[in-house]
Amino acid sequence: MTIWNLGSINADHVYALPHLPGPGETLAARSLTTGLGGKGANMSVACARAGGQIRHIGAVGAEGAWMVDRLRSYGVDTSAILTLDGASGHAIIAVDDAAENMILVFPGTNRRIPRAHIDATLAAAKAGDLFLTQNETNHQVEAAFSAKLRGLRVAYAAAPFDAAAVQAILPHADLLLLNEVEAEQLRQATGQGPASLGLSDVIVTLGAEGSVWLHGGQEHRVPALRVTPVDTTGAGDTFTGYVLAGLDEGRPMPDALALATRASALKVTRPGAADAIPTRLEAEAFHA
Ligand code: ADP
Ligand code: NA
Repeated sequence: MTIWNLGSINADHVYALPHLPGPGETLAARSLTTGLGGKGANMSVACARAGGQIRHIGAVGAEGAWMVDRLRSYGVDTSAILTLDGASGHAIIAVDDAAENMILVFPGTNRRIPRAHIDATLAAAKAGDLFLTQNETNHQVEAAFSAKLRGLRVAYAAAPFDAAAVQAILPHADLLLLNEVEAEQLRQATGQGPASLGLSDVIVTLGAEGSVWLHGGQEHRVPALRVTPVDTTGAGDTFTGYVLAGLDEGRPMPDALALATRASALKVTRPGAADAIPTRLEAEAFHA
């Protein structure tokens, strides 16, 4: 089976600064590290690292060619990533000596993916394939609807939280993935907890507390591994990608969750986003 991920691709520019700049301040950074990020790209890399067959649907600008090359080097099928005029998605991340950060995101080409490109790409999907999306692109609502019509199983990682998008996608979703903060935002927006949404599967991640899988009226708790976190960026994305790859392989959810928990715990011990996502062999060998 194939996993189809309509998702963002960002260059993460991380600047180390003595303190975070205030309004009107000019400040020289001590260092710059550029890596691959964006929730969509992170999840695609996690799927591929987990051994899944993943085709990413997205767009970059001409200067973003290195990101497409890097996705490909991690095993992602990049044939449905377009190159458009204009800047690629990117994030300017300032980190100070106390590890406080400040993040500016420019969505760029991530929000300019043509609807016709998404439809043409999904036309090659087969019933039973998995479709995945988040909230960092455009057309995710229409794409989820069209994937559902084609008989795909729809997984939705509702991040960053967007009340309108969530309410539009929920009726088409089979699996919803949220962190604790997003679950609370959903409760505020809909007046309902994740268990009462009528979805067949909901997974709420709880950071160092692990995760909860809501299924068949029951709550299944999965504890996290105990690690010393270095950088929690992309923990949830790693988790989601591994869960999807596991389901796509036909594994039962508890098995998929166990490996996802291992992979995301290992991720938080490493700095970086997509580039720091562990391979399946690394995840399987990791014992905290
Ligand atoms: P997000 O990155 O979307 O906020 P979470 O922080 O809930 O997501 O993390 C997703 C998963 O990653 C958790 O369910 C857990 O299994 C793992 N994880 C996150 N933070 C830690 C941590 N400090 N120690 C161990 N595992 C963690
Ligand atoms: Na987190």
